[in-house]
Amino acid sequence: MDLLKAIIPAAGQGSRFMPYAKAIPKEMLPLLDKPAMHYVAEEALAAGVRDLLVVTGPSKGSIEDYFDQTQAWREYAQTAGKTQQFAGWLHLVENLQFSYVRQSEPLGLGHAIWSARGLIGKEYFGVMLPDDLILSKTPGLLQLLRVARQERASVIAVQEVSRDLLSNYGVIEVRKQITPNLFQVGSLVEKPDSKSAPSNLAIIGRYVLSHKIFGALDELLEQDHGSELQLTDGIASMIRQGEKLFAIKVSGMRYDLGTPLGWLKATIGMASQDPRYATQVREFLGSLDSIDSFVYNHGKVLEHYEQ
Ligand code: G1P
Repeated sequence: MDLLKAIIPAAGQGSRFMPYAKAIPKEMLPLLDKPAMHYVAEEALAAGVRDLLVVTGPSKGSIEDYFDQTQAWREYAQTAGKTQQFAGWLHLVENLQFSYVRQSEPLGLGHAIWSARGLIGKEYFGVMLPDDLILSKTPGLLQLLRVARQERASVIAVQEVSRDLLSNYGVIEVRKQITPNLFQVGSLVEKPDSKSAPSNLAIIGRYVLSHKIFGALDELLEQDHGSELQLTDGIASMIRQGEKLFAIKVSGMRYDLGTPLGWLKATIGMASQDPRYATQVREFLGSLDSIDSFVYNHGKVLEHYEQ
């Protein structure tokens, strides 16, 4: 089983990054010298994906601009003095085919994935949520693909999460533990109460799914699904229809880019491990304790300036 296509849903408004996200997609937030989308595309390519299908919405044009691969840009990237700066970018645009689908209405993650159904055949495909950054020697998506190949089944990524945070995630109910890191899934539930959550294994944004998910989402779309159609509900319904689902605890570092704090942690964590910045960033972090007054008064408009 090869995984030639992956869907990246990037239509979300980015409410936690407003007002910034009014103009700049949260998927284009910089992580060191590249936007978050770049890292997700890199992970896809390293897992063998060749077609990236990006689901977009209003104000997301800069994602397309970033991966724009006109002849003129490629030539510019290859001019003397630019090659090193553009090496990673060139590698992506020369090896990946990008397509863009517009989500017609903001009806949730399940609907966003369903919007790309016309570009997927009768095959297994990847889903990568760009809010989840997974940094690992073995690319996150590839870890899932290896299980999917072995089991000829759908696979999702999970991570152990403390009980009080489970209500932010989809959570799995384990049918059978196969190895310390691999589970067969009995069912899953989106954002349960911490008390009723079926386990402490939360879904993080990597999936290898059977095309059968589109039939399951079709059916749910015809029913009343509230204001949003959840991908988790589509997958749960696909299991009830007989598709096997496995969950793997992915190895590596996962950052949640969906909140300003998570993005900040990713930036600091990555910078403090990057040989270009590590020494100075660690020195700077160490020096922060000795700063006695930090005058920027967050949230209070202009009050921190002298009158
Ligand atoms: C989405 C999924 C959820 C998953 C999470 C991982 O939720 O619906 O099942 O656990 O991503 O990041 P969201 O964070 O978009 O609300």
